[in-house]
Amino acid sequence: MVSGNKNLSAIILAAGLGKRMKSEIPKVLHQVCFKPILYYILKSVSALGPKNIFVVVGHKEELVRQFLSSDFPDAAAVTQEKQLGTAHAVRAVKKYYDDLSDFCLILPGDIPMILPETLDAVIGSTVRQGHETSATLLTSIVADPFGYGRIVRGPGGNIVKIVEEKDASDEEKLINEINTSVYCFGKKILFEYLENIGSDNSQKEFYLTDIVENLVKNGQQVEGHTVKDSIEAEGINDRVQLAVLEKAKQKRINLGHMLSGVTFKDPETSFVSPEAIIGSDTTIEPSCLIKGATKIGRNCIIGPFTQIEDCTIGDGTKINKSLLQGAVIGSLNNIGPTSYIRPGTVTGDKVKIGACCEIKKSRISNGSKVPHLSYIGDAQIGADVNIGAGTITCNYDGFLKNKTIIEDGVFIGSDTMLVAPVRIGKGAITAAGSAIVEDVPGDCLAIERSKQANIESGAIKFREKKEKQKLQQNRQLENK
Ligand code: UD1
Ligand code: MG
Repeated sequence: MVSGNKNLSAIILAAGLGKRMKSEIPKVLHQVCFKPILYYILKSVSALGPKNIFVVVGHKEELVRQFLSSDFPDAAAVTQEKQLGTAHAVRAVKKYYDDLSDFCLILPGDIPMILPETLDAVIGSTVRQGHETSATLLTSIVADPFGYGRIVRGPGGNIVKIVEEKDASDEEKLINEINTSVYCFGKKILFEYLENIGSDNSQKEFYLTDIVENLVKNGQQVEGHTVKDSIEAEGINDRVQLAVLEKAKQKRINLGHMLSGVTFKDPETSFVSPEAIIGSDTTIEPSCLIKGATKIGRNCIIGPFTQIEDCTIGDGTKINKSLLQGAVIGSLNNIGPTSYIRPGTVTGDKVKIGACCEIKKSRISNGSKVPHLSYIGDAQIGADVNIGAGTITCNYDGFLKNKTIIEDGVFIGSDTMLVAPVRIGKGAITAAGSAIVEDVPGDCLAIERSKQANIESGAIKFREKKEKQKLQQNRQLENK
C-alpha cells in the first residue's frame, strides 16, 4: 500500500445539495453507524497519507466546516459558491494549484464503504502510467445501475466515455458497469481539461465525467480499475440507500470485532461506532448501541438493550438494559437493569449500581453499592458504602448544585434524603426515612424522623368509623 504518499493530493467533493435526501442537513453529514458519511471517506483517504486533503464544501458549508475542524483539522475546506456540478466543484480547488501534488485523487463525499486498499489500487494505476497524461477511473459492476453514470467501452474494450443516467440512451441504460466517481489524475491534465468542460446536458451541470470523453478524443487512454465488492462504491443519494449502507457498515464493523474475539449474540441488532474498542471475550447481547469513542474491556457482558456513549468500561463488568454516557466504569461492576449513568460518573472496581438508579457526575469507590431506585448526583462516595433503596442526594436547591460526601464504610438507610451540601463521616449510619440536612460525624447513627405511636385497637376503631360513614353515604344516594 502507498502509505505516506506525499506525491498525492486528495479532493473530496462534498458541496452538493443532496436534493434526493429531502433534508435540512447536508447529505455528507447524515450518519452511518453514528458518524457522518464524510467521516468514512476521510478515514480511508487519511490512511493513504496524502500530502494534503481538500474538501469542497458549499451547501450549508458552515456545518461541514464545523465537522472538519473538530474531526479532521488537517483537511482544508474549499468553498464552491454555487453547486454547478462535479467538474465545477473540482475547479474550486484550482486556486491551490501550487500546493497540489502531481497526482490528484478525486472522490465523492457520499461513498462510506470505500476502502483504502481500493483507492491505493486506483492511485497505483495512474502512478504507473506517469503523471503528465495519466488517468484512472474506479468502476463497479452492479446488478441495478439505475441512477449512476454508465461506462461506455469501445470495441477493443477501452473506456470511451461516461454517460449519466439522465443523458443515456435506452441501450446505454442496459450497461451495468458504472462510474464510482473515484478518479486519480495527473494534476496537469486534470486542470487543463477542466477548463473545456461545458454544461450542455440534461441537467445543465458541469460534469466531471466529461473529462473522460475529451481525453479519449485527444488520443489519451483512461484506465479502468474495477472494484471487487460493489458495495464499496455504492453512493448515498436518498434515505433508502442510507438505510442499506447503514446495514452494510454495521455488518463490516461487527464482523471486525467478531474476528478479534468479541461475541455478538445477534450482530443484526447491535450497532457499534467505528471508533469503539471492545476487548476479547466480551459478549454483546442483542439490541445494543455502542457509540462514540467507547472503550469496553475484556470479559464484559453488555446488554441486552444497552446504550453506551463515550464511556470507558473496565474488564469483567456486566451491564444490563441501561444507558451510560461519558462515564468511566471500573472492573467487575454490575450495572442495571434500567439505570442511567450520566457524564462525569467514575466508579472504582466491584461497584454495584442496581435497578432503576440515576448517577450523575459522581465518584463511587471500590466495593460500594447503590442497589435500588436511587438518585446520586454531584456526590463522592467512598469505599464499601451501602446506599439503601430509594436514597436521594438532594443536590440542587433551585440555584446551585451542591456536593454530597459519603466517606468509607457508611451505611445509608433506605429512603434517606441527603440534603447537600452534606458530609457523612466514615463508618456512620443514617436511619431509614431520614432527611439529613447536617453533617454526620464518623461512626454516628443519624436519625431524623418523628416518634412512632402505636394506638391500641386503633385500626378496629378506624374501620368501624369508616364503615358507618360509607353506609350513611349510600343511604343518601338512594334517597336522591
Ligand atoms: C456522480 C457521477 C456519476 C457516478 C456517481 C457515483 C457526475 C456528473 N456524475 O453522480 O457518474 O455514477 O456520482 O456515485 O459526476 N458535488 C459537489 N458540487 C456539485 C455537485 C456535486 O461538491 O456542484 C458533490 C456532491 O456533494 C457529492 C458528489 O459531488 O458528494 C457527487 O455528486 P452527486 O450529486 O451525488 O452525483 P451523482 O448523481 O451521484
Ligand atoms: Mg452520488
